[in-house]
Amino acid sequence: MTETQKTIEKKVMLLTGGTDGIGKEYLIAAAKNNFKIYVVCRNIKKSEKVIAEVKSISGNDDIKMIVADLGSLSQTKRAVQEFLNTGDPLHVLMNNAGMFGLQHRTLSEDGLELIFSTNYLSTYALTLGLLGKIRETQGARIINVVSGSYMLIPQFGFDVSRDDYNAEKHYEMLRQYGLSKLSVIYLTKTLAKLLADTDITVNCIDPGAVKTNINRNLYFPLNLAIWRLRITRASEWMSAEKCAQAYWYLTTAQCLGKISGYFFDNKGKLIDPLPIVYNEEYAESMWDLAAQLTGVRL
Ligand SMILES: NC(=O)c1ccc[n+]([C@@H]2O[C@H](COP(=O)([O-])OP(=O)(O)OC[C@H]3O[C@@H](n4cnc5c(N)ncnc54)[C@H](OP(=O)(O)O)[C@@H]3O)[C@@H](O)[C@H]2O)c1
Repeated sequence: MTETQKTIEKKVMLLTGGTDGIGKEYLIAAAKNNFKIYVVCRNIKKSEKVIAEVKSISGNDDIKMIVADLGSLSQTKRAVQEFLNTGDPLHVLMNNAGMFGLQHRTLSEDGLELIFSTNYLSTYALTLGLLGKIRETQGARIINVVSGSYMLIPQFGFDVSRDDYNAEKHYEMLRQYGLSKLSVIYLTKTLAKLLADTDITVNCIDPGAVKTNINRNLYFPLNLAIWRLRITRASEWMSAEKCAQAYWYLTTAQCLGKISGYFFDNKGKLIDPLPIVYNEEYAESMWDLAAQLTGVRL
């Protein structure tokens, strides 16, 4: 096979959050499996270092950076355009980047609460922005990384969260994180319905408890509680490498070729989520909210 043929046949992936934690381990797996990978990343110096390391481990030089802070809607939209300008197909969209642990309400440049905007609104804008390209690619897969924290939302009261998505009345970090992830679950389910007559699948995965640095911003007493759990229930915490294997399973398993709109755990097993996940009225309202706030529509 010539070098040109090899390049033409390469599958293309766009990965967010590939510079640390689970995403970095997944990037290594994708690189070893000869994907051409676009990593959407915000920190140029760190990303250059990680990508150089992954190129050297995998022997795959086809890893490119698209620089964008997903906390900014204009940068997210620019990332979409930068990818579209490459003219490449898109076989796998892995929405993995996530923000957690901000003690105080922090606003993005768009005036939006940063956890909600980074985790949900940018995932919505990125995915819808790339959907035309994804539709052109046979058997493409979209994978959204969520979290069991969505289960907290019924306790907070969903209507409160929906009305106060920007945490203007009250800021609670776990509520913002849980709401952002519940909204990504709704996004997954809505897209699966919209794409039902295609061979594109869209699913979500909950990493569970994984030993990464995602807790770097955590504050007292939540940080103490998490560190205690990491010690007292050490066997329940998974390594980032192991969790990336579940991501990889969702990316490539042939038996999942027609499975869409589902929720998986960190072992790649199907989970039956809480009833709130099936609430179509809530799903529709979070879709409409994202359309209104991002200005991105199908
Ligand atoms: N670890 C867990 O126990 C756990 C549990 C449930 C769900 N999750 C979810 O799993 C996913 C991966 O988490 P992880 O544990 O691997 O976290 P991590 O080690 O903190 O890595 C997060 C990745 O997301 C990127 N990122 C964060 N904010 C970004 C932004 N505004 N713009 C661009 N990139 C951004 C980070 O970039 P930098 O390198 O620049 O920081 C990093 O590459 C997240 O969606 C998280 O919510 C994790």
